[in-house]
Amino acid sequence: MNEKILTDTVARLVTPPKGILAIDEGTKTCAGRFEKLGVPNTEEKRREYRELLITAPGIEQFISGYILFDETIRQKAKNGVTFTSILQSKGIEIGIKVDAGPLDFTDHPGEKVTSGLEGLSERLKEYKKLGATFAKWRAVYTIGEAVPTAACMKKNAEIFVKYVELCQEEGIVPIVEPEILMDGDHSLEKCYEVTSVNLQVVFDALKAAKVFLPGLILKTNMILPGKDSKVAVFNREIAQSTVRCLKEKVPAEIGGIVFLSGGQKDEDAVINLDLMHQSLIGPLPWPLSFSYSRAIQNPVLRTWGQNPGQVTRAQMLLVAAARNCSLASVGKYQHEDFKKLSRHPQ
Ligand code: G3H
Repeated sequence: MNEKILTDTVARLVTPPKGILAIDEGTKTCAGRFEKLGVPNTEEKRREYRELLITAPGIEQFISGYILFDETIRQKAKNGVTFTSILQSKGIEIGIKVDAGPLDFTDHPGEKVTSGLEGLSERLKEYKKLGATFAKWRAVYTIGEAVPTAACMKKNAEIFVKYVELCQEEGIVPIVEPEILMDGDHSLEKCYEVTSVNLQVVFDALKAAKVFLPGLILKTNMILPGKDSKVAVFNREIAQSTVRCLKEKVPAEIGGIVFLSGGQKDEDAVINLDLMHQSLIGPLPWPLSFSYSRAIQNPVLRTWGQNPGQVTRAQMLLVAAARNCSLASVGKYQHEDFKKLSRHPQ
């Protein structure tokens, strides 16, 4: 394993004030988002939308890496230039989602384990040839009466270990994404407890396997109440709980931490990250940034979906949303800026 290659890539990905843009939605997820806007979910429409995201002028000031889907890493812009070379020419790292999605966990109703280890070594070699320098693997956990179970957390952690080992062997930085979903009416405290236990399980497994911690990035959920919870929670409480949980459970030596937006309101994802960087919380042991999909793409997709001719407007919204996240990643976001620059006009 070449540790320097890994730490160099990590540094390029998480050096402030930049973060990662996830555009790795699978065909089914795209179908859901496109259908709501009346956009046909064809390969060409997905390509057209991704071209808009990849070619947005100036996006490289705020975004260090794009996470692509298997289909996207092979596609080209209308002028015949590959998406990967466009990203490389902007100095943006190419990431690739390599898991094959969650499957039911046998004998554990309501729980999932992530699939995709089969053939992963060969796929990583191919992605590397296509230009990928980092990868993403996501496991999902629902909070319920008796879930997630210790067995499910342990199983997904073992799978994360194999994925990390294979990526690091290839010189590809693995993003480890254990996502506690917002589904349900659980409290912020419950999310704290589950995230905390699960992070412990994940890092115990990674440490026991002696993977190279500075050569990996954690992508995690913020500590949030469930989306059906009726209890009002202040952004500051979310920010403080999240940082406390991460400081307790995430080894200081990992390369960095980035957040998923998880279905929060777009501006909350920005405000919460911003508040985490406010001085009253104190210094952080790792770079802490974003790897959002929805919180950045929402206004863009709405605009383009309603009027595919408005590519320039959609790209401006993308850059504005990325800029806000970038400002938040260094605690310099002004709330009014967000309203002015990236809110979709009603
Ligand atoms: O794996 C999840 C995505 O990369 C992040 O998506 O920001 O919409 O939660 P999200």
